Amino acid sequence: MSNESLKYVPDAALKLLPAGRIGALKDKLLSAAEETLKDVDLWQSGGPIPAAKQPLDAGFIQWPEELLADLQINRDKSLVARLETCGARLREAADSIVVLGIGGSYMGMRAMFEGLRSPYHNEQCRKTRGGIPRLYFEGWNVDSDQQQVLLNLLEQRADQHPDSIDGRTSVIVISKSGGTLEAAVAFRTFRELIERKFPKLAKSLIVPVTGDAGRLRNLSNAAGYEDVFSIPDGIGGRFSILTAVGLLPAAANGMNIRALLQGAADMTEHFRNAPFEENIVLQYVAVGHAFEMDLGMTTRVLSTWGSKLEAVGLWYDQLLSESLGKHERGATPLTVVNTRDLHSRGQQHQEGRRDKLITNLLPGRPHKPPITVPKHELDQDQLNQLAGVTMPRILQAAIDGTNKAYADEQRPTTDLVMPSITEHALGQLFQMLMLATVVEGRLVGTNPYGQPGVEAYKKNMQANLGIK
Ligand code: PA5
Repeated sequence: MSNESLKYVPDAALKLLPAGRIGALKDKLLSAAEETLKDVDLWQSGGPIPAAKQPLDAGFIQWPEELLADLQINRDKSLVARLETCGARLREAADSIVVLGIGGSYMGMRAMFEGLRSPYHNEQCRKTRGGIPRLYFEGWNVDSDQQQVLLNLLEQRADQHPDSIDGRTSVIVISKSGGTLEAAVAFRTFRELIERKFPKLAKSLIVPVTGDAGRLRNLSNAAGYEDVFSIPDGIGGRFSILTAVGLLPAAANGMNIRALLQGAADMTEHFRNAPFEENIVLQYVAVGHAFEMDLGMTTRVLSTWGSKLEAVGLWYDQLLSESLGKHERGATPLTVVNTRDLHSRGQQHQEGRRDKLITNLLPGRPHKPPITVPKHELDQDQLNQLAGVTMPRILQAAIDGTNKAYADEQRPTTDLVMPSITEHALGQLFQMLMLATVVEGRLVGTNPYGQPGVEAYKKNMQANLGIK
């Protein structure tokens, strides 16, 4: 693995397990990995899927490699090139882009946006943003007040800049099933705004991303939008971040989607070929499984060091909960942001129930020259002793201090280290966590695909509204 590879360092936690415990899981893990990869062949064969394997959404595993191969062969006509072209078109067409979707149809893009863009992106002028449009997320809730604020803001912009890109909004509506009510209702509202404010441009400003059948597909066909992208069969919602679901808004946001795909493809190759002892997917699963089975550590805390990674954690919360939270089993994911949450959950992690395995997600090299503590002639706060010390140095002191405090109390911590927050590193991270979730499902006999439990509330909600 290169310097730009994601690294998993579980050494501190392993001190709390008997020697050889992880090695003893090798055969079981290798067989779960083999099943995970064989599922890809089964899916690709197009043959009948045994009932016990249904649903089978193994398509995400080889997808990044397939897209990169398609790009090599078909160049301008490849899906990657078409996504990039559409993304560039939207960037030139509108200064505000709204992504409508819920669950797997929005959380991945939110993770990329928060990870790769400035937290104040939307507040910066177009020039400072490098011509990259503002990005908003809606349709992930049913919150009238919140949606209204955005609708009003976009309407005001359209009125203030009637003939320029500054006033224009584009909508990317994403739903695999095409029928999820939250996204569908939001789309009605935003579609109305776009059609009223930009009647001549509406067909080019609205871009649906959806499955090959369903209400949104039918609507898109009838409306005749300039671009419509498909979410392939065999890739489930929470595994769809590297399909048009994440790639189109990422391309429109000026992100390097080839690097994202390359990172994910590199991770799949590593998963396939690295020996058990060096395979970060298998080591990650083995450690989580051992702590859960042996010590009852059923809460997996993803401890993100920096708020840029919080939304990655929220994406992972969904991935783990919906994939393995079945049959009254499955670890509970919990995302924290430090040092913020050291002043809230930190107390419980240090002294509460012994049911937590903590994974530090470390962001690696910062992108900008660091802030240093300035000297002040009065020194009333006695901080001149830190004058010239960088903020990353202060953060490192917090990380080391927290890990030591946990170790002193026999609280297990592991590190997942990013080289820095880039498209390539995020591609690796997403693919690693998706692979790990599926391998763990196969290890414990839980089908990681599908989310039958989510259907219950949808059914009741629709019945309450008299929807047929
Ligand atoms: O993982 C899943 O499949 C779900 O969380 C879906 O992403 C979510 O329910 C949204 O579904 P859809 O894209 O069909 O609107």
